[in-house]
Amino acid sequence: MVTRNRPRIRFSSAPPLRSPSRRVVRLGIVGLGTVGVGTVKVLAEHQREIQRRLGCRLELHTLCSRTIHRKDLSWLGQPVNITPDWRKVVDDPEIDIVVELVGVPSTARQIAFAALKRGKHLVTANKQLVAEHGVELVAQSRATGAGLGIEACVAGGTPILHAIRSGLAGEHFVAVYGILNGTTNYILTEMERRGCSFAQALEEAQQKGYAEPDPTFDVEGFDARYKIAILAMMCFGQAVRVDDIPVEGITRIDQVDFAYAHRLDHTLRLIAGARRRERGRLEVFVRPMMIPQASQLATVHGATNGILLMGNKGGNTTLTGRGAGGEPTGVAVLSDVVQIARAIIAGGAGATPLGYESWHPAKIASPAENVTSTYVRLVVRDRPGILARVCALLARHHINIDSVLQEPAMPKKHLPFVMTLEPTLEKNVRGAAREIARLPFMIQPPLVVPFAELP
Ligand SMILES: NC(=O)c1ccc[n+]([C@@H]2O[C@H](COP(=O)([O-])OP(=O)(O)OC[C@H]3O[C@@H](n4cnc5c(N)ncnc54)[C@H](OP(=O)(O)O)[C@@H]3O)[C@@H](O)[C@H]2O)c1
Repeated sequence: MVTRNRPRIRFSSAPPLRSPSRRVVRLGIVGLGTVGVGTVKVLAEHQREIQRRLGCRLELHTLCSRTIHRKDLSWLGQPVNITPDWRKVVDDPEIDIVVELVGVPSTARQIAFAALKRGKHLVTANKQLVAEHGVELVAQSRATGAGLGIEACVAGGTPILHAIRSGLAGEHFVAVYGILNGTTNYILTEMERRGCSFAQALEEAQQKGYAEPDPTFDVEGFDARYKIAILAMMCFGQAVRVDDIPVEGITRIDQVDFAYAHRLDHTLRLIAGARRRERGRLEVFVRPMMIPQASQLATVHGATNGILLMGNKGGNTTLTGRGAGGEPTGVAVLSDVVQIARAIIAGGAGATPLGYESWHPAKIASPAENVTSTYVRLVVRDRPGILARVCALLARHHINIDSVLQEPAMPKKHLPFVMTLEPTLEKNVRGAAREIARLPFMIQPPLVVPFAELP
């Protein structure tokens, strides 16, 4: 529901796309890395099937990458135009759909807007581009009647955006929670499964190609932040500024946290979430959370992604699947291509890519105002009186303790123990944690993780 006094962003109705008598739709793919190659391979393998679905031929017309002249393209098995200059793809009148897979945000942005301005349909896999410029992209696509496909931006090969935009278009979403980053989920679930450290799990993820040599973008939650910004726009019709989304990564999670989590019938996952709050506000975040072991997201292991959509009439819908990888993401890219090609053939308007025709700027609710149960792990140099001092400090902040847990046989010089706290304002817990961190026996600041009672 949109309040009357808030600014709204509206687009004029879309003109029809192209002529209905098409028998060939031509693609230009810019970017021939992991996803570009995956897309071309999937297209080559599925071409006949796609043709039967479309009733028209999907032709790979041009491939573009900076070093295309140095690439061995013999595996293509068919002649195709090549160029290192993306402008040639965007300007080519024979090309109907530009597929942007370059990864470099500034270049992706240039290609996307140049293509849409020329009335070329655009498919992109760039989450940063869509999270930061989604509303402008849709405005540009509406202005020239060009289609826009963004399915590959969130959860790679899992068709979550199509589900929100089409299958659940009649729903009123109250919340969306996702495991949206395969790298962090691989690390956490390996720590859980094998009892290894964060560093060991990260190294293994790097060896297997799940994590970049510099893993910051994934492990600090920035990748998931772009994705939840897109999901929030699609589920709630609110344009969320990426920088307004609080983000916390997984680098402070220790294997001992899984031992404690299991004693509480919970587990730890990096959750990207957005939910409606009172007075039209939206809470959006990326953070590690304690989730029940029986919840559906707890069963999402390894590099898989999982998204839980909560609707006020249809209830809960969960989708799990591949979140990345060349060919799974290539399927998402081609699904957008097929959808746009169908619109080209029908001569109609393309689907509304972000699920809404108008947005209002999101009013973000601070997580500090949440009332939640909390897991607090302290690591101390053991000595008498520690518990009494921590309990007194918590009492001063009006925080009730639910339980105190200590795993047996832990080193006294580096003793981790856990307190679970009864539902309390999160800002009170954060304030108390800052004070606890200054106590002389503390070896490191407390780890504070909220419980999320997910179904
Ligand atoms: N990897 C995944 O699993 C995944 C999953 C979902 C979404 N995505 C998104 O998909 C996009 C592509 O990712 P990727 O992993 O395939 O990237 P990548 O492996 O780094 O490939 C990028 C490609 O873009 C080309 N390129 C860069 N700048 C260019 C320019 N100015 N002109 C022409 N070509 C240019 C590169 O060409 P050269 O090799 O010739 O330099 C390379 O072929 C990104 O937005 C990413 O976030 C990736």
